Amino acid sequence: MTALQSAAGAPHARILGIGAYRPSRVVPNSEIVARIDSSDEWIQQRSGIKERRWATPEETVEMMSLAAARSAVERAGIDPRQIDTVIVATVSHFMQTPAVATRIAHELGTDQAAAFDISAACAGFCHGIAMASDLVRGGSAGHVLVIGVERLSEMTDPDDRGSAFIFADGAGAAIVGPSETPGIGPVVWGSDGEQFDLIRSREDWRDVLASDNPVMPHLVMQGNPVFRWASFVMAKVGQQALDRAGITPDQLDCFVPHQANMRITDAMARAMKLPDTVKIARDIAEQGNTSAASIPLALDRMYAEGDAQSGDVALLIAFGAGLAYAAQVVVLP
Ligand SMILES: CC(C)(COP(=O)(O)OP(=O)(O)OC[C@H]1O[C@@H](n2cnc3c(N)ncnc32)[C@H](O)[C@@H]1OP(=O)(O)O)[C@@H](O)C(=O)NCCC(=O)NCCS
Repeated sequence: MTALQSAAGAPHARILGIGAYRPSRVVPNSEIVARIDSSDEWIQQRSGIKERRWATPEETVEMMSLAAARSAVERAGIDPRQIDTVIVATVSHFMQTPAVATRIAHELGTDQAAAFDISAACAGFCHGIAMASDLVRGGSAGHVLVIGVERLSEMTDPDDRGSAFIFADGAGAAIVGPSETPGIGPVVWGSDGEQFDLIRSREDWRDVLASDNPVMPHLVMQGNPVFRWASFVMAKVGQQALDRAGITPDQLDCFVPHQANMRITDAMARAMKLPDTVKIARDIAEQGNTSAASIPLALDRMYAEGDAQSGDVALLIAFGAGLAYAAQVVVLP
């Protein structure tokens, strides 16, 4: 039988640089409350959100992705031509095909990198990091650009009490490359399709076309069951990610969960018994929930505010529609 050669990759992979782009328009709770019969106080108390960022028409998925990617490339200290794979995690690129990743790979000046989009909603960034790590270690890629980007303001129904105050826009990016030491721990990921309906597009495109009054498919959710699932089940997933990386909570420097709700973040930290020394990402207060972009955006703020340093050990955990989730421990660049 003819024997094929197989690819040999780097001994390990790590994140080399992280970048982010925040849209320019700041939207305080006061701008949202009238249409949903709510208050600034209620929103802050129930979700921790004070304000969010919504993109202007110029701040497209492509524009925000490129800005975040350029910042990640610069911080990683690599040439864009070294990037041979681009993965974009998003649910708000509204052209069914081609993948927006191909355009970003081109605009960034990669040398015809492999490029594709993934759809794992709020869990997308951690799915991308897991895939990038395995591609580098398996020999299929040298340097991978992972982008999480969303324009959820376009998919938000401003009259929906359960979601209008939550979702927001932005982009984050990471460069994953080869390493002599382990920099990305084993992923713990999965899905619970029995709960498919808890967070979803209210309509699909065929429903929109059939409607007399076509509107963008809106993202809707059943907040309370999602809240309970995220607070309790996800803490166990976080614990498994620590176990698989072979570390204990006291060895952790940073906890960077998907920015869904400040109370979910606190409930997870309590359930995992994280010591007070662990710095916790709280970007949601000023940024809202940006789905696939939320973890790199939160990390970017932690660096800016001195809560994260190069070499820190961080637990990333992302969860959302599907219900899909992914968690891993990483060494920060
Ligand atoms: C949406 C969320 C903040 C709502 O908080 P909650 O504590 O679950 O609130 P409930 O839905 O149980 O509603 C509690 C009360 O507030 C009211 N309420 C609901 N939405 C409201 C709003 N926007 N403003 C004011 N009151 C509101 C309800 O009517 C209810 O009133 P009642 O007690 O008189 O019946 C919370 O469920 C959540 O964050 N869920 C997870 C969302 C998430 O993470 N999604 C993305 C995952 S990727």
